[in-house]
Amino acid sequence: MMLRISDLRAAYGKAEVLHGIDLEVGLGEVVCLIGRNGVGKSSTMKSIVRDQIAVTGGEIIFDDRSLAGMRAHEVIRRGVGYVPEDRRVFASLSVLENLNVPRPVAAADRRRWTVDEVFRLFPQLHDYRHRKAGVMSGGEQQMLSIARSLLTCPKLLLLDEPHEGLAPKIAEEVVDAIVALKREGVSMIVSEQALNTIRRCADRVYVIDRGMTVWNGSVDGFYADPEITRKFLMVQ
Ligand SMILES: Nc1ncnc2c1ncn2[C@@H]1O[C@H](COP(=O)(O)OP(=O)(O)O)[C@@H](O)[C@H]1O
Ligand SMILES: [Mg+2]
Repeated sequence: MMLRISDLRAAYGKAEVLHGIDLEVGLGEVVCLIGRNGVGKSSTMKSIVRDQIAVTGGEIIFDDRSLAGMRAHEVIRRGVGYVPEDRRVFASLSVLENLNVPRPVAAADRRRWTVDEVFRLFPQLHDYRHRKAGVMSGGEQQMLSIARSLLTCPKLLLLDEPHEGLAPKIAEEVVDAIVALKREGVSMIVSEQALNTIRRCADRVYVIDRGMTVWNGSVDGFYADPEITRKFLMVQ
């Protein structure tokens, strides 16, 4: 097991927004986190990497160790890659400069990624390597953000709505990249508002509603039960 979250609770200040998240990710598995806007998908990821949110209860075990009390840089050094919703590329730096920003040194036992390898995965980034990140399209910035997180040599990669705001063709390219990374053995959690875009690569699905995991199962199981979509995904 790569990650096991049990009964996770988390809050921004005094406002608790996660009231019981249970989630497991196996070795090499791609798990999709779905749910309407505002239900707690990003907050779940932020709780794992200790970004902005305070974990107030439950347990997060990553790679057989509890993440309790760890700071963000420590979690990332242990092997969690995080691609936030807002991508956070350095707009005024070139693609190459973005990729050369110093990052934590990974433990020796991990699959190492080099800048050349991420260019092989995302050829466009190589073509645009001298271009400033700020002038690139949303899809290109998304790829840059994923490429950058790969250089931390993650065992588990968190992708927060990687298709958000992208044209369908570009969104497909992001899915291609997820499939390629899966082949490399990277475990992933991908958050989405709808499942269509990652049907090709997800192994299992978790549905979140109002800060709680309310359903989990296979992708086929998800589609086989229209009640789930009706109850938890339609805008009401
Ligand atoms: N930085 C923040 N400070 C306070 N509340 C927040 C913050 N970010 C998100 N929230 C609230 O937490 C809840 C869950 O949000 P979020 O995890 O972003 O949902 P999702 O990613 O599923 O759209 C929402 O009610 C949202 O308004
Ligand atoms: Mg979100």
